[in-house]
Amino acid sequence: MSEAKIIDGKKAALALREKLAQHIARYDKKPELAVILAGNDEASLIYDRNKQKAAQEAGMKCEIFHLPETVSQEELLSLIERLNADDNVNGMIVQLPLPEHISQAEVLKHIKPEKDVDGFCPVNAGLLLANSSEAIAAATPKGIMHLLKSVFPDLSGKTAVVIGRSNIVGKPLASLLLNSNCTVTVVHSKTRDIEAETRRADIVIAACGCPKMVKASWIKEGAVLIDVGINRIDGKLCGDIDFDDVKHKASYVTPVPGGVGPMTVAMLLENTFEAFLKQNNLKK
Ligand code: GUN
Repeated sequence: MSEAKIIDGKKAALALREKLAQHIARYDKKPELAVILAGNDEASLIYDRNKQKAAQEAGMKCEIFHLPETVSQEELLSLIERLNADDNVNGMIVQLPLPEHISQAEVLKHIKPEKDVDGFCPVNAGLLLANSSEAIAAATPKGIMHLLKSVFPDLSGKTAVVIGRSNIVGKPLASLLLNSNCTVTVVHSKTRDIEAETRRADIVIAACGCPKMVKASWIKEGAVLIDVGINRIDGKLCGDIDFDDVKHKASYVTPVPGGVGPMTVAMLLENTFEAFLKQNNLKK
C-alpha cells in the first residue's frame, strides 16, 4: 500500500484563523478572550502565550490573568465572577491543570456557560451529550471533527475508536462522533483488549498520553488515524501513534506536531467569536 496521506492541521488551522480575522474585521467592537493561568507550569505558559498571540492576530482582545501557584480557590473564583459579570469579556478559559489545592470541578462549575469557550463546564458538557445546538463544544474534539470531515464529508456509519476517556478530549469527542452518526467505542486503561477494538475501526483517535502506543498491528488496512498525544522521547516530540510504523498501513494520519495541536487554538478562537456574536445579537 502507498504511504498514508498527512492531514495537515497547521494548514487547516491557518485557513480557519484567516477566515475568522476577515469576519472579525467587519465589526467595530472586538471579541475579547480572558485566559486564567494559575501557577508556572512551563507547558501551560507556552500554550497560553500561543493562544493570546493567535487571538490578537485574528483581531481579538486577549488578556492573560497570571495568578501565583499559591492563589486560593476563593481568589480564583472571585476573578471568574468578575469576568462573568464583565460584558466586554465574551470568552473565558482556565488553563488546566490547576494547582493541587484547587478543585477543578468547582472552578469549571463557576464559569458562565455562555462564556465557557473551552466547553468544559458541566452545562456545556451536558448540552453536548444531548446533541443541543446551544452547546459550546470543547476545542480539541471540535478541531478533530473538522479534520475528520476533510477526509469523510459524511461520517455517518463509520466505526470510530477513541483511546482515552478524559473530560477534555475522550468524552466530548465520543459525543461529537456519536452526534455525527458514527458507531463509537471508547477504550481506556482498564479495557481488556484494546487492539481487538482498534483493529475493527475505520477511524482511530489516540488521546491517552502513551508515547507511540498505537502500532501498525493495531489497525486495519486503510484506517484514518488522529493523534492527540504530545509526548517527548529523548527531547523529541512524538504522539501516541507510532507514525513510522503505521504510515504504510493507514490511509490518513495526523502528524505530531502540526496535526491536532494547531486546531485546538483555531477552535478556541472560533468558539470565542461565536460567543461574541451570540452575546451581542449579531449575525455572521
Ligand atoms: N489543558 C490541556 N488542554 C487544555 C485546553 O484545551 N484548555 C485548557 N484550559 N486547559 C488545557
